[in-house]
This record gives sequence, C-alpha cells and structure tokens, in this order.
Amino acid sequence: MKIILLGYMASGKTSVGKKLAKRLNLSFIDLDEYISQQENLSIPAIFNEKGEIYFRRKETYYLKELLNNSQNFILALGGGTPCYGDNLKLINSYSNSFYLKRSLESTYIKLSKSKNKSKRPLIATISNIDLKEFIAKHLFERSPYYEQASNTIIVDGKTKKEIAKEIGIIIKSS
Ligand code: S3P
Repeated sequence: MKIILLGYMASGKTSVGKKLAKRLNLSFIDLDEYISQQENLSIPAIFNEKGEIYFRRKETYYLKELLNNSQNFILALGGGTPCYGDNLKLINSYSNSFYLKRSLESTYIKLSKSKNKSKRPLIATISNIDLKEFIAKHLFERSPYYEQASNTIIVDGKTKKEIAKEIGIIIKSS
C-alpha cells in the first residue's frame, strides 16, 4: 500500500506522515528530503542554483521513481507537487491520497511564525505584510488540484496525533 499526503506548505504533511507511519508500521518518505538527498543539494540551493523549472522536473522524476517501485510507504509531497505536469494523475493511480486542508488564516499564522520560512524558497523573500495575499492567491490556484485527492482531511484545530488517527481509521476501513 502506498499512501500519499498532499496539501499546501505548513499543512502538516511531514509531521503527520511520520506519526502515521509509526501507527501503521510503514516506512515514511518525504519527497523534498528524497530530492535533496538524490541531488546532493538542499531545496533552497536547488532553487537558487538551478531554478524552479529544474526543481519541478526533478520533483516529477523522483515522484515517478518512488511510485514505480513495489515498496509500501507513506509519502509526504511538496506543496506544489500535485499541481505540475501529470503528477496528480500518477498520484491517484498509484495510491490512496489525502489532502491535508488548512484554512488561509491558519496557514498564514503558521508560515509567518515559522522559523523555517527561509528554507521555503517560494516565500523566503516575501514580507509578512504581503504573505497573506500571496497565500490566498496561491491557494486559489492550487486548491482545484488538492481537492482531487481521494480523501480530504480538515486539519485546523487538530493535533498531529488526531489527524494521523483520523487517516488511520479511514485506511483501515477501506
Ligand atoms: C513548495 C513547497 C515545499 C517544497 C518547495 C516548493 C511549493 O514543500 O517542495 O519549496 O511549491 O509549495 P513543503 O510544502 O513541504 O514546504
């Protein structure tokens, strides 16, 4: 079984994925971390040195590589992964996908307070004053892709543990 977590930046894909992996006794892979390891460069360095188009090509390449193998795992995608090329089609044909849906307000609060803002190339240079409008537009563009996941989980106000439990119940009953 392959389980994929998708959603916008700061939706909790990685932290929920780790919890869920423990719960279901499956291995956990974070796509950004995988890309970074394979390319021997951090995600910000890939964006800065090679550009976003290069990153998107590699993102699709490594997504395919992971989905084409027979291993079972929980995979946390990057926020943009489902929105490029034929990635979404691939995701839904190979796996059970879960959209971790966080509201604009909560996303803004998390991202503006995040110590990791500099590690997220798309928002690293955006001031907190402009960040909310950026997220609002970005969510508007990306939500139609996210909404095509096989399941949608509202994450606002829930702990990682509660979200992992909710997903675990859906998987076990399917
Ligand atoms: C991106 C989100 C990041 C990372 C890259 C691009 C995006 O992942 O893949 O910086 O396009 O939203 P997280 O969602 O884990 O921050």
